[in-house]
Amino acid sequence: MKIVVTGGAGFLGSHLVDLLVETHPGAQIVVFDKLTYAGDLRNVEDAEKKTKIDVVIGDICDQSLCRRTLSKAELLIHTAAESHVDNSFGNSLEFTMTNVLGTHVLLEACRYENVPRILHVSTDEVYGEIPVGVANESSRIAPSNPYSASKAAAEMIVSGYWKSYKAPITMVRGNNIFGTRQYPEKIIPIFIMKLLNGQKLPVHGDGKHRRHYIAASDAAAAIMTVVAKGEVMSTYNFGSEEEYSNLEIAHMICAALGYDPKEWIDHVPDRPYNDIRYGVTLDRIKSLGWAPKKSVMSELPSIIAWYKQNGFRYSGFG
Ligand SMILES: NC(=O)c1ccc[n+]([C@@H]2O[C@H](COP(=O)([O-])OP(=O)(O)OC[C@H]3O[C@@H](n4cnc5c(N)ncnc54)[C@H](O)[C@@H]3O)[C@@H](O)[C@H]2O)c1
Repeated sequence: MKIVVTGGAGFLGSHLVDLLVETHPGAQIVVFDKLTYAGDLRNVEDAEKKTKIDVVIGDICDQSLCRRTLSKAELLIHTAAESHVDNSFGNSLEFTMTNVLGTHVLLEACRYENVPRILHVSTDEVYGEIPVGVANESSRIAPSNPYSASKAAAEMIVSGYWKSYKAPITMVRGNNIFGTRQYPEKIIPIFIMKLLNGQKLPVHGDGKHRRHYIAASDAAAAIMTVVAKGEVMSTYNFGSEEEYSNLEIAHMICAALGYDPKEWIDHVPDRPYNDIRYGVTLDRIKSLGWAPKKSVMSELPSIIAWYKQNGFRYSGFG
């Protein structure tokens, strides 16, 4: 079986590769990645110790490369993206190129190459902010920043392929994902790296914005559960009940590293727009037998240990 993981050298993609190596022995695993600042082949070093991984370095906007890479593939897991909201305020066209055009090019290549199963990874941010309560998979899409808008636009392409071609695509929309190998721009790794480098934690605005968190290994398991048991032409939220404000995350990381939050937290100007909260129902994916196993609290010590050992990779972080 040939399985192509776009963005496989990135954060979530590399955790998926780890899982595939365990669950699909004998499969041909292809990492298809442009190796932007967020991608690093060292992220798949552990997987490569266990099995051979084929690596295609290139852009998902390159149609002929997509077709060659997807030829005879039985499964595409599409995680490649520009994924950082803060960057999208400055460089939003790059987000549209990769997240919208790149997704379209990939889906078109899948159509030509008759790829029988496609898993498209999206985000809970497409629902826009949910100050209270939860969105379910049928709720209105209302993105509020250039990143989530580009992910929502990609979903519209998927939707068009469902209706027009009955394309065998399933979508998942995830909460904030955390774990090792995440580029230190997202809140947990950047806060860890800042303190490890003796710098204060820059909390956006009053720090009251809230997010739900799901471990990367749980996210990978959620995605593969949907591949195995989910319906095609359908969408599943995945995530956890673990919800923290940004300020709470800053306090947890200070506590874990033994720093006094009163001295080490700085409030910095907020994003141009910052959704106060996201919230999604998890009933659909739970009905497939999946549930998260880890929590931020349980994983923080091992994540910190990983950044202490590997933080040198991110020389230009922050
Ligand atoms: N990280 C989260 O909290 C989170 C939450 C929900 C959903 N998601 C979604 O999960 C997916 C993976 O997110 P992540 O956090 O692992 O992202 P990431 O930024 O860590 O990794 C993205 C990977 O995609 C690659 N890439 C970027 N542009 C490319 C292109 N044009 N062609 C080929 N490869 C390209 C990068 O090199 C990198 O390896 C994304 O679709 C994201 O929207 C992420």
